[in-house]
Amino acid sequence: MSVDFQNDLLLLTCASGKQCAHLIPLVSQKFKRLRLQVNSQASLDRLREQYPYAEVVQADLGDPHAVSKLVSGATALYLVGPSLHPRETDVCKNVVDSAVQEFENGRGGFKHFLYSSVLNTQLSKLLNHDCKRYVEEYLMESGLPYTIMQPTHFMDTFPVASLAQQESPVWPAPWDPKVQFCFIALKDLAAASAIVLEQREKHMYAQYPLVSAGPHSYEDVIAITGKEMGKAIRIEKTSYEGAIASRVKMLFGTEDCDPGMKDIMERLILYYERRGLLGNSNQLEWLLGRKPTSYAEWVRGNL
Ligand SMILES: NC(=O)c1ccc[n+]([C@@H]2O[C@H](COP(=O)([O-])OP(=O)(O)OC[C@H]3O[C@@H](n4cnc5c(N)ncnc54)[C@H](OP(=O)(O)O)[C@@H]3O)[C@@H](O)[C@H]2O)c1
Repeated sequence: MSVDFQNDLLLLTCASGKQCAHLIPLVSQKFKRLRLQVNSQASLDRLREQYPYAEVVQADLGDPHAVSKLVSGATALYLVGPSLHPRETDVCKNVVDSAVQEFENGRGGFKHFLYSSVLNTQLSKLLNHDCKRYVEEYLMESGLPYTIMQPTHFMDTFPVASLAQQESPVWPAPWDPKVQFCFIALKDLAAASAIVLEQREKHMYAQYPLVSAGPHSYEDVIAITGKEMGKAIRIEKTSYEGAIASRVKMLFGTEDCDPGMKDIMERLILYYERRGLLGNSNQLEWLLGRKPTSYAEWVRGNL
């Protein structure tokens, strides 16, 4: 089970996404063999240029044959599910199935499945959390050596740079700005994930709910950001329809997306409007061996 940084092959899925953008530079300091999965041609071209030392592979995680080829030869795997994919559970189960094949093929090469899930997969009204609950169960019963990371709401989707560029900044609130959330800085998530991948054995069969900061309402977040920027930021509540359209555009660059993806976003906005997302930072502090990033520190780092 011990890690062989020279020869172990670490596979990361959704390598072009926000999580892996922070994780790849960290793991590449130790792991000499990286395989990065992308879906689109644009990401294939971008990542080949950005990480010339890694193997970049184009594969649709919804295609079991492509996934089987992708996982072949991997020693460790960091699974990120594609954002708002309407069949996210099936897509992630494909990856678990291929890892099981790899684990059971007699060569004994597969050693660690790290699943980047989400905080509070019990929340069945949030479809993007509920779909991961079944993946967690499937992984736990797969016989694979695994660890589950459960990050909360990302700080890094907050548009601090674009607010800083506005003379009289306005934040269009997609949900009630008084509702409280806990946040994670993606650099903290990446640091914790790198530790788990590098220490492997110590984290076997663990589940880590991961929070950097909060609870904070978005009113608090706006006040913290405004103070760091030295400008007052005005909050303007968006309509429900406007909130869905703008979040879909933020994720996919277009308002036009699969109806199944819209279903997920509609429920997310309704849930955040009333309940937000709450968790605790103790586990992340323990994993990192330091205080996680506060909201003010994150804003300062991004201005
Ligand atoms: N946002 C949050 O606050 C939050 C909090 C906790 C957990 N999460 C979870 O984080 C995950 C997303 O991670 P992220 O933010 O790093 O990703 P992201 O930045 O949203 O990027 C989406 C990724 O999905 C890939 N993708 C899309 N369709 C695919 C397919 N059919 N097969 C394979 N890959 C596909 C894209 O690849 P291409 O670029 O090649 O198209 C891209 O890498 C989601 O599961 C989400 O639920 C998000």
